[in-house]
Amino acid sequence: MKVLVATEKPFAKVAVDGIREVIEAAGHELVLLEKYGSRAELLDAVATAHALIVRSDKVDAEVLAAAPELKIVVRAGAGYDNIDLQAATARGIVVENTPGQNSNAVAELVFGLAVMAVRRMYDGSAGTELRGKHLGLQAFGQVGRCVARIAAGFGMHVSAFDPFCPAEVMQQAGVEPVDTVEALYAGSDVLSIHIPATPETRGSIGTALLSLLPKGAVVVNTARKEVIDEPALAAVLAERPDLRYVADVRPDNAAELEAAAPGRVFFTPKKMGAQTAEANINAGIAAARQIDAFFRTGDTRFRVN
Ligand code: 3PG
Repeated sequence: MKVLVATEKPFAKVAVDGIREVIEAAGHELVLLEKYGSRAELLDAVATAHALIVRSDKVDAEVLAAAPELKIVVRAGAGYDNIDLQAATARGIVVENTPGQNSNAVAELVFGLAVMAVRRMYDGSAGTELRGKHLGLQAFGQVGRCVARIAAGFGMHVSAFDPFCPAEVMQQAGVEPVDTVEALYAGSDVLSIHIPATPETRGSIGTALLSLLPKGAVVVNTARKEVIDEPALAAVLAERPDLRYVADVRPDNAAELEAAAPGRVFFTPKKMGAQTAEANINAGIAAARQIDAFFRTGDTRFRVN
């Protein structure tokens, strides 16, 4: 079988070597398409692929239609909002992700961003500490759980809102379950977003929630820009000079936000939460193993469609 790794944002070389080892040991052929400049290159490369490994690369109906042999797509990572699940299902193509494999990397970056924000973007003026502050996790999935673990070391009080996670799971992790998302926002000095981008969550964080944040709060977004109502965020930041927004996902209205809140917003140049050698190795090799298991035994335990 031909396994195509198509990554606009490449994995570390050590991860690619590991993926190759797994794929070739299973008797398959690995084809690598990295940093592709045009969609045409991707459409071309998928034409003969039986399996596809991607990251945030867009796999829409056009890409799937260009891949007549394709049986499985594995998103080496957590969020699969970049893949057209309906189109894949209609074609009988299995879509999987690799949950948890890159979550520690993202969680560590939450603190990189949070420390920068409370230290006033490193401008040299007196900031505040994380110790003793209230950290609110909007969702308690794999990343949220890693963030909670690290937050304990900082001496933070951690709460979470997640209607899909039982309260006992949070309590066992030393996290206080909160009943409503409004209560979470109202009680968080640092609010960290960990919800996926779905039709229900898109644009769901707007004026109503952001206005509830306590004085001096910091919002950390390492999830997806789509979950934010970006014009509303700009308006709230302009009205509330005490708030800060730091994100690993560059907003569409970055210039507007920078103008509305000079020195109070920061965006990484390119999404890099999962961009560590460790996360690349974990997610990449998990993807390769899942493809091997799929072709060998029909295993689809990580299927999301
Ligand atoms: C994910 O959903 O796994 C993260 O957002 C990482 O995405 P990336 O593989 O594009 O860095």
